[in-house]
Amino acid sequence: MSDRLVIILLILAAIGLPTRVAANEVAIAPAIEPTGLPPLGAVWREANPYRGNPLAIEIGHTAFNQACARCHGADASTHAAPAPDLRNLNRYCRRIAAPELNAACMRDNDAYFAKTVRQGKVIVGVTHMPPWEGVLKQELAWAILSFIESRVGGK
Ligand code: HEC
Repeated sequence: MSDRLVIILLILAAIGLPTRVAANEVAIAPAIEPTGLPPLGAVWREANPYRGNPLAIEIGHTAFNQACARCHGADASTHAAPAPDLRNLNRYCRRIAAPELNAACMRDNDAYFAKTVRQGKVIVGVTHMPPWEGVLKQELAWAILSFIESRVGGK
């Protein structure tokens, strides 16, 4: 197969992905500030420092609805949204009962969340999700993850 044909096939595959929302979407920062949460500085954490923190869940709820809901569904609660249901993110970890393995799984999950949010999902030039680096504060990103996890099992 020629290189050009391979490239054309890759582009077609990317455009055809069912989860695609719209090409060249841009990230718009939420209006809410992470007031009251411990500040995290410029260097991204590897794991969620706010897991289970009620204030983080509350702030994350608002931030999610302002920044993520238009693609992932209001309140992280709908299956009809065009982008994946983020409550499923840690579904594999939830099946692991052994505490140490579960914690390791959650650490991987946190790292995947942070990487995905910062880099977005840009696949062969098509923006499935815009990158949030420089737009979304780290504090708000972890607050959003804390909120999403609080929604697991909800409608
Ligand atoms: C413009 C629409 C859009 C917005 C806004 C958006 N996303 Fe996404 N997101 C997507 C799409 C589409 C995917 C699936 C991309 C793919 O797999 O190709 C995705 C995937 C993800 C994933 C990976 C899911 C998985 O199962 O692998 C995470 C995590 C994520 N988004 C978090 C967020 C967060 C947090 C926000 C808000 C700050 C957000 N997204 C805002 C469209 C969006």
